[in-house]
Amino acid sequence: MSLVFAHRGSAGTHPENTMEAFKEGERVGADGIELDVQLSKDGEVVVIHDETVDRTTNGKGFIKDLTLKEIRKLDAGNKYKKFLKKTRIPTLREVFEWMMTNEMICNIELKNGVIPYPRLEEKVIELINEFSFQNRTIISSFNHYSIVHCYRLDPDIEIAPLYSNGLFMPWVYAQSIHAESIHPNIKVAPDALIIDSMKAGVAVRPYTINNEAVMKRLFTINCSAIITDFPEKAIKIRESMSI
Ligand code: G3P
Ligand code: CA
Repeated sequence: MSLVFAHRGSAGTHPENTMEAFKEGERVGADGIELDVQLSKDGEVVVIHDETVDRTTNGKGFIKDLTLKEIRKLDAGNKYKKFLKKTRIPTLREVFEWMMTNEMICNIELKNGVIPYPRLEEKVIELINEFSFQNRTIISSFNHYSIVHCYRLDPDIEIAPLYSNGLFMPWVYAQSIHAESIHPNIKVAPDALIIDSMKAGVAVRPYTINNEAVMKRLFTINCSAIITDFPEKAIKIRESMSI
């Protein structure tokens, strides 16, 4: 059965990368969540997609220039203000504390392609080990040096390269860096490639799958997982197909 991961939480219906969005993923029966992490000025691992707070909050500035205290004052509900109050940027620790109450998987995307946050990998791995989430977390990144660094720090934690340009036999590349899975943009992941990769023992979790027909296609070939902004829709489709 294909798993369903709620992208940035249920980002299609709730403010992305907030506890509200992650809890919505849980409510609708998603198997996992995907989230993005950056590092604050005082070295806290915070959950936010962009390097700045400008797009998703009522504040301005780079995460690297703001302390956690300053970040926590911001409203991350933004355009959803009408029905949500006090929506904050969570820390990874806060997400992990909530994960203690369920069995969901967490795909942590290291957003260190633009800003090389010092020791981001070490901090994330220390947290995973503190919570004993080695089997419930997958670390992905477009920065493949970073995920290889993670593997070297702790080979028990799954790593997955993210990519959006076509790769030839990506499962061979994945195996060469000890990645058990790949996270391609769906545009460069035709069915045959997904099937061949899974046959080679490398799981495939394409992003971002919001279209019903594409969901059905991926569920039909038993794709390892899909990453979607609309987990409720995906779960309903999966149930309707009895897969
Ligand atoms: O992890 C899949 C996807 O989240 C990668 O792209 O920009 O949504 O973080 P982005
Ligand atoms: Ca992401």
